[in-house]
Amino acid sequence: MRSYELRITNSAHNLKGHHMRIVAVAQQKGGDGKSTVTINLAASLAASGSRVLVVDVDPQQSSAWWFDHGPEFEFDLAADTEVGNLARLRELPYDVILVDTPGSLHDLPVLDAVLDVADFVILPCKATALSIKPLTRTLNEHVIARGVPYRVLANRVKPRSIDATGGFKDARGLYDLLDGAGYLHFRSFLREYQVYEDATGEGVSILHYGGRDATKAQADLAAVTTELLTVWAHETTEAVH
Ligand SMILES: Nc1ncnc2c1ncn2[C@@H]1O[C@H](COP(=O)(O)OP(=O)(O)O)[C@@H](O)[C@H]1O
Ligand SMILES: [Mg+2]
Repeated sequence: MRSYELRITNSAHNLKGHHMRIVAVAQQKGGDGKSTVTINLAASLAASGSRVLVVDVDPQQSSAWWFDHGPEFEFDLAADTEVGNLARLRELPYDVILVDTPGSLHDLPVLDAVLDVADFVILPCKATALSIKPLTRTLNEHVIARGVPYRVLANRVKPRSIDATGGFKDARGLYDLLDGAGYLHFRSFLREYQVYEDATGEGVSILHYGGRDATKAQADLAAVTTELLTVWAHETTEAVH
């Protein structure tokens, strides 16, 4: 077997207290925010004290491009399209490995290989009707079929889509639809803010930005991070009892 190339930077971590999760960020539709969620969630988890590695198995290598063009990240990054190597990543000293996956039907074998080693799947989904069909297909045929724990995350929720109850219409619409069909989702969500695009252009996470919208985007990200850690904490407790 060929030895794999991992471009890992600042990895002066130790292996103590090691409980690693391999998390796939998946959804067969492109443009709903897989790479955006991967990078920003990685930064946020790192900020909350986790040792985080991002693996980019997307042949387009968008996270990898990002990493090469940005200043120092809070997490490490490995660019490797050789998915057969993924299982070996478990030996590395990280708490969380986030795997950014490609979003096209041509890359199904890659998606399947990632899901085979994943402990959890996050499915970012634009809160529009167009995104539901590919989402449920990914869920039914790939995620639920494997029994991997998952949550759908509403992304690009329009900040002005407030409904009569003061909630965000887009997020509620998507989440109600998922509830009706029996799918699991986050309660929190990410609103649509220009700062995500700006951060991409600069090669950094939104945590490096200031201003009103950046603060709101960071609050969303913090809520998603907290919810994710809570979901994982419950999983661990259930596994123990
Ligand atoms: N919450 C958001 N607010 C604003 N723009 C977003 C948000 N999420 C993603 N985007 C933008 O949408 C585009 C597609 O997102 P990307 O993460 O590349 O999707 P994918 O990796 O699933 O193809 C990018 O230009 C990204 O900056
Ligand atoms: Mg992408």
